[in-house]
Amino acid sequence: MIPRTTQQWQAADAAHFLHPFTDFQALARKGSRVITRADNIYLWDSEGKKILDAMSGLWCVNVGYGQQALIDAATRQLKELPFYNAFFQTATPAAIELAELLAEVSPPSFQHVFFCGSGSEGNDTVVRMVRRYWDILGQPERQVIISRQNAYHGSTMAGASLGGMSGMHAQGGLPIPGIVHIDQPYWFEKAPPGMSRDAFGLLAASWLEAKIQAIGAGKVAAFIGEPIQGAGGVIVPPHSYWPEIQRICDRHGILLVSDEVITGFGRTGRWFGCETFAFKPDLMTFAKGVTSGYIPLGGVMVGERMAKVLIEQGGEFNHGYTYSGHPVACAVALANIRLVRELGLVERVHNDLGPYLAQAFEQISKHPLVGEVQSCGLMGALLLVKDKAGGDGRGTPFPAELEVGMLCRGHCFANGLIMRAVGDRMIIAPPLVITHAQIDDMVALISRCLDLTLADVRARGWDR
Ligand SMILES: Cc1ncc(COP(=O)(O)O)c(C=O)c1O
Repeated sequence: MIPRTTQQWQAADAAHFLHPFTDFQALARKGSRVITRADNIYLWDSEGKKILDAMSGLWCVNVGYGQQALIDAATRQLKELPFYNAFFQTATPAAIELAELLAEVSPPSFQHVFFCGSGSEGNDTVVRMVRRYWDILGQPERQVIISRQNAYHGSTMAGASLGGMSGMHAQGGLPIPGIVHIDQPYWFEKAPPGMSRDAFGLLAASWLEAKIQAIGAGKVAAFIGEPIQGAGGVIVPPHSYWPEIQRICDRHGILLVSDEVITGFGRTGRWFGCETFAFKPDLMTFAKGVTSGYIPLGGVMVGERMAKVLIEQGGEFNHGYTYSGHPVACAVALANIRLVRELGLVERVHNDLGPYLAQAFEQISKHPLVGEVQSCGLMGALLLVKDKAGGDGRGTPFPAELEVGMLCRGHCFANGLIMRAVGDRMIIAPPLVITHAQIDDMVALISRCLDLTLADVRARGWDR
């Protein structure tokens, strides 16, 4: 790349590049931030400013930036065989080896994988696969997939339909037919006054049973959920929730799908989030952390119950992508998973970094602006509230239109920290290679940005 000034990059960007989830005109006016390089957990922008990336890119750079093993694996594979497809009864050694390794790190019932290019494509595959499964079993009327409001499952037609984001449904006539939603297990907003988290977990799970009964169990194909809702605001469900969801699905014979696109590959302190929350899904969607985001790859792990039917009775499955099992992506994934193992990152998150972050968040929870604090492994959320003591002791939220979260996010950017705002929930998911000292630095930056936000809130009289 020929070097240019920030203004030159921004002008060319505004002239030609339509960014995802962006108001094109507003960004063109403001100018995007241009990121030029990265190392470990840090990014540098075109002005040379160093930024601590507490979001691992987009929840994906689990092994951190600049890992030579991944770079070497890509280079080797590019030289040897940059592409071949898996359509016409062919395979490549990289894809075969990765399938084998994924079966090894997944819970034991997962011995098969279907590859694609992203999390969204993975969830499109889920929709086609669960409906195909019931067709093969002679129950084609089982079409409906139940998901949750405020879920995020991607941005393709099926992914956005499975997701429960009202802003996405408002554009393009979504959801597509046969996808319905129940409410989310968000204790802070949804639990009746005085209800414990565990009691609420059971209540929230009962909404699934009520929906199944309203539709008729014979028409329901599957339930899908993220073990922890990520893009929805790092909403960690009560521990009673998922085992009860499992019991309900089992009782009605319904397939259970765990969207592990964020929670897979160590983020929660186990290889997959379903292991942290003690449930056994039939399918797991994955992407992001499988290659630490170095190159696009996604897929669906297929459990025994479905694999047996699809393989032994299914005939041809008319579905797939040019890049299903792309050899370069698979080679990078192999190097990435081996590195995660070598560095013991899953165990480190479970035994050391997760508890260390939880402790640091406990300290931050004393800040006057912070209400609910949640973390699990290396995912965390701080809810900014107007009055900590209000609202049944949970804290009184700010009116949404004040956009206090965005105010805080602005301070984070200005102070060299990437932290995302989902409404007034400030969320993080740092690389799994982060050290204690770096967590301390991150927490110090968060505290400074909370102070700056509080000063703004007071100056504007929003605390009254
Ligand atoms: C849980 C979940 N599922 C699916 C996706 C979609 O993945 P992709 O953006 O790779 O299509 C995301 C993306 O953030 C996600 O968080």
